[in-house]
Amino acid sequence: MIPPFAGLREIDRYMPSAATLHAGPADAQTPAPGIDIQVRGLVKRFDGRAVLDGINLDVRHGETMVVMGGSGCGKSTLLRHMIGSLKPDEGSLHVLGTDITGMGENQLNEVRKKLGILFQSGALFNSMTLRENIALPLQEHTQLDQSTIDIMVKIKLELVGLREHADKFPAQISGGMKKRAGLARALALDPRILFYDEPSAGLDPVTSAEIDLLMMNLSRQLNVTSVVVTHEMDSAFRIADRMCMLDKGRMLATQDRSYFERLRDATGSLDHDEALIRQFLRGDAQGPLTERKQATNYAEDLLGETGPQLAPRPAVQPTRNIKSEPAA
Ligand SMILES: Nc1ncnc2c1ncn2[C@@H]1O[C@H](COP(=O)(O)OP(=O)(O)OP(=O)(O)O)[C@@H](O)[C@H]1O
Ligand SMILES: [Mg+2]
Repeated sequence: MIPPFAGLREIDRYMPSAATLHAGPADAQTPAPGIDIQVRGLVKRFDGRAVLDGINLDVRHGETMVVMGGSGCGKSTLLRHMIGSLKPDEGSLHVLGTDITGMGENQLNEVRKKLGILFQSGALFNSMTLRENIALPLQEHTQLDQSTIDIMVKIKLELVGLREHADKFPAQISGGMKKRAGLARALALDPRILFYDEPSAGLDPVTSAEIDLLMMNLSRQLNVTSVVVTHEMDSAFRIADRMCMLDKGRMLATQDRSYFERLRDATGSLDHDEALIRQFLRGDAQGPLTERKQATNYAEDLLGETGPQLAPRPAVQPTRNIKSEPAA
């Protein structure tokens, strides 16, 4: 029972973690039933710098997990580990019950057949029509005959509302349609997990909301697990079952959406990590994120190491609806 007036941290303590829900130890090597992705102690260094520094995360079957965090904090790097395109320096990853940590390419390709991936660009082949783009994974990874592939391509295009545009080339369709076509291709092999990296980047608010709706419908209709990296907070709050926040290689919080809603709307003083997350969620101009950035820039300026990468920039894209107030 959560006591009345429990602070956010206390509520956090009363929320059962995935591990306790499934009665398994938190650091178990074999994931508990119902966990589609298990990340344990993931460390990744680039040029000696730990971009991910001991990440733990469970993604439950059928849920939509939104991964948040400032630019360059390691979100895409985490996603690339989940699909096996990067290998960790330390730690382990289980995907759909299989330990992919030290897996070779051939075995990984078998696992990847169960994963659908939508990267920022949509990654369509410009020289192929939408129909051909979506048929490609089926031709490459299945033994299906062409007439069956044709039917499957139609079903996938219908799912994303692009059946009438099957014979267009990517250059002939809008950015939002490209995203939807990329999604149709990610769905081609009936994946069990869908990964999205910034699905609404570069889209207007209405098109972005349409993509959100599509993602939610797909996860319901197809019962897929989704991992979504996004800066767009309206979108995050619309689609997430649970959310997690990365910062400087650490996982600051993994919680139900309602926890982050309470944090976003919280007034009064919070501890450092909570205040940092609140600033991110609101897109506030002041708070721990900006204070840290200014301090870092100043130190590096003193050492004569200023460069374009150190220029001040907002940590998060402003939200569309949420009223921004200075952090308390
Ligand atoms: N292959 C690589 N080699 C060296 N450094 C890399 C490599 N991939 C990523 N990095 C660095 O790791 C850090 C995290 O990168 P990543 O792309 O995961 O960030 P992100 O959180 O997805 O950022 P954004 O929101 O801007 O997409 C960055 O500093 C980036 O420069
Ligand atoms: Mg990224």
